[in-house]
Amino acid sequence: MTDLVVRRLLIDLNEPFAHHWAGGDAFRSALFNALSMSFPVGEQFFIDSVRAGVKTLPPEPQQRFADEVRGFIGQEATHRRIHALFNGQLEQQGYVNEWQHRAARRIARLKGFDPRHPVAITAAIEHFTAILAEWMLRHPEAMDGAEPRLSTMWA
Ligand SMILES: [Fe+2]
Repeated sequence: MTDLVVRRLLIDLNEPFAHHWAGGDAFRSALFNALSMSFPVGEQFFIDSVRAGVKTLPPEPQQRFADEVRGFIGQEATHRRIHALFNGQLEQQGYVNEWQHRAARRIARLKGFDPRHPVAITAAIEHFTAILAEWMLRHPEAMDGAEPRLSTMWA
């Protein structure tokens, strides 16, 4: 079992950033904007899934995983908050987040499913997140020309 340390990110996202914030590159900016738009609804889904999933376990493993679950929820809540702030800036720029409604409709269809099902979806999506994260760390040039606060957020 690994210790999950919740990293509280203190990034100022109240100040606007450039429309093409990723070094003036429209594609890179749009790619990360679209990812960010999916995050708050996704992170909330992960939190809800894990919270409901752990309750299906017998008391002993529930106890055993309690710290990890708490760490995971804290970490996801931090991501959700940061990306909501980032997305707020995107809204100010005139972007409309259609993603979140589509994702929310898909999530609503899972109501009544075995709670392990959303946990499995969470694990699968987090696997993609890990692939993306590894790629990002190997390719810091993805953030070339971005303000330090934004490259910090994405790192
Ligand atoms: Fe996350």
